[in-house]
Amino acid sequence: MSAEIFEKVKQLIEDIETASPQTKEEVEQFRLNYLGSKNILKPLMGEIRNIPNEQKKAFGQLVNTAKQVAERKFQSLKESVESAIEDSRTDHLDLTAPGEPLELGSRHPVSITMNRIISIFQRIGFTVAEDREIEDDWHNFTAMNTPEDHPARDMQDTYYLKDSAEMLIRTHTSSVQARVMTTQQPPIRIIAPGRVYRNETISARSHCQFHQVEGLYVDEGVSFADMKQTLLYFAQEMYGAGTKIRLRPSYFPFTEPSAELDVSCFICGAKGCNVCKYTGWVEILGCGMVDPNVLENCGIDSQKYTGFAWGMGIERQAMLLYKINDIRLLFENDVRFLRQFQSAL
Ligand code: DAH
Repeated sequence: MSAEIFEKVKQLIEDIETASPQTKEEVEQFRLNYLGSKNILKPLMGEIRNIPNEQKKAFGQLVNTAKQVAERKFQSLKESVESAIEDSRTDHLDLTAPGEPLELGSRHPVSITMNRIISIFQRIGFTVAEDREIEDDWHNFTAMNTPEDHPARDMQDTYYLKDSAEMLIRTHTSSVQARVMTTQQPPIRIIAPGRVYRNETISARSHCQFHQVEGLYVDEGVSFADMKQTLLYFAQEMYGAGTKIRLRPSYFPFTEPSAELDVSCFICGAKGCNVCKYTGWVEILGCGMVDPNVLENCGIDSQKYTGFAWGMGIERQAMLLYKINDIRLLFENDVRFLRQFQSAL
């Protein structure tokens, strides 16, 4: 008899633990069952009369445990039902209150500058050509008239892929010239924006990754004068209608003749400042007539066609436009810095 009644209480404890009332009403029913004035634990305490003396203490403790379990369970059920009700209530919300505006992001200054350069050239018939950043040595160097052991390779410190003498991450977007010219015959009129990499020490003026825009125009009868006019148009669209340009002789393996393009300093109006180093001129890009070797390497008849090309660093243009004095700011993505740039593009 007494073993049976012990079992009964243990079973009750288990029932209490596994009970899962969901609604407010069910939780109230649970309370009445186990904790109310007529709860089913009460008559069990009366049974203590029939328990042998030496087991009375243990029995009393067991019934108390059942009570405590029921008490604890009820508390937690009550809390979860109340919070569910709270969650589903909408009458405390003012649905006519103004919403919290989503904070709008801004474009990165490099993107703004790149888009601006692209749209300037698109207006005169250039189309965008994009290609891979992981390049082979041939497209990045050899096709561009820079064979192995050519001293000009030292101008661009190259990241080769691990254990490879062939594959690299491109050092300039000129590699896209080779990609386009090996798959397309003239007339070719493209601009190639993209990211480039060089093994350079990071400082305020140089970074190991940056962006360039390459331009290429190949057709019959394309002349140096065409190049000069195209770049003058660009300079004036980019830096203001009154901008003057000058071409200085330079050297690139892929162009002959080669030049560097300076624009009149738009910061001081060419009067002299620390951006133009008091010369009145700022260098913005490298350019030249495509070397006939480059055309031939890519399968284009250099007797029939001529072309011009140029390449410019986008960070450099962005720094000039926005008067940013440290290139590293463009790669840190500090929102306090980035928030300052607004653009419709
Ligand atoms: N690839 C050159 C560089 O990264 C830039 C350049 C100069 C590109 C002259 C050209 C060019 O297409 O004609 O420094």
